[in-house]
Amino acid sequence: MQLCSFLGVLFVWGYFCSHEAKLIGRKQNIVNDRPVIGILTQIVSDAAMKQYGSTYIPASYVKYIESAGSRVMPIKLTLTTPQYENIFSRINGLLLIGGASNLETSDFARVSKIFYQLALKANEAGDYFPVWGTCLGMQLLTVLVSGHNLLTRATAVNVALPLNLTQAAFSSRMFDGFPKELMKALQREPLTGHFHHYGLAAFKQNKDLMDFFSLVSTNVGENGVNFISTIEGKKFPFYGVQWHPEVNRFQWDHTLSFPHSPHAVQLSSLLAQFFVNEGRRSLHKFDDFKEEALKLIYSYTPVFAGNFSGYEQIYFF
Ligand SMILES: *[C@@H]1O[C@H](CO)[C@@H](O)[C@H](O)[C@H]1NC(C)=O
Ligand SMILES: *[C@@H]1O[C@H](CO)[C@@H](O)[C@H](O)[C@H]1NC(C)=O
Repeated sequence: MQLCSFLGVLFVWGYFCSHEAKLIGRKQNIVNDRPVIGILTQIVSDAAMKQYGSTYIPASYVKYIESAGSRVMPIKLTLTTPQYENIFSRINGLLLIGGASNLETSDFARVSKIFYQLALKANEAGDYFPVWGTCLGMQLLTVLVSGHNLLTRATAVNVALPLNLTQAAFSSRMFDGFPKELMKALQREPLTGHFHHYGLAAFKQNKDLMDFFSLVSTNVGENGVNFISTIEGKKFPFYGVQWHPEVNRFQWDHTLSFPHSPHAVQLSSLLAQFFVNEGRRSLHKFDDFKEEALKLIYSYTPVFAGNFSGYEQIYFF
């Protein structure tokens, strides 16, 4: 009994020390109980959505962030670099969502790169700033880190899959504190919804990606290609998933493979809480409550989209 708890203490100590030392700024404790996560608007590519606006954010991503105790600021793609710098100094993290924009030439890629570089610089200076990419957002992070579009065809379209976890998953920050049962379920049950034609297979062949990210999980696509499905920054609080944790709780189109089982919902909740907790380590803030109120998502109204898209509600900009 005593030996056990002694070993337990050693284990916990070793665990935290080895991890805290590697990641920049994680010494920065959870201090901010009023976080605001920025969500970069996405370019409308779907013809049926065009009549409502040129950029959008599906409400599922907003609810996902809000469900973990954060507010959301939508970030438009038409601003100047100084305006983005100003926004960066006010938000506590950034979510890059899925979509179909070009990873190198689109405004989505251009603005992501501005924030990516600001986040690198800030984290290096001890100013903790987490970035999360989902689906296209994760693919974009690999382009920003490697300087190349390394995607290949790796189809996993409208399918729910378990994850092939790597050894690194069991010491990852993303899954830290996950119940054992959920870690098991993650590897056996189809808890992750995939909606992509492309994926990144050549991760281990790229030194920049290998140096930057730990590989947390992989999957095999319908065409037999083994692609990366979950990554986390070794030194930076940057995270990527090729799949869609937000759909598990906030999207319901019965023709799409959205996992809604208790484990799927738990996975989605815990990852949202994880990312928002990362944002709580950031001290960026608005000048005052009045300025903050003007910038948050609350002054926009989502449109009912269940009859022309796979989403229930979408914010258009
Ligand atoms: C996990 O990896 C194995 C071996 O490569 C593969 O056969 C299997 O399809 C993968 N599972 C998933 C869910 O992608
Ligand atoms: C979808 O439903 C809304 C609300 O009922 C309606 O106003 C809109 O015209 C419909 N759109 C399409 C494309 O059917």
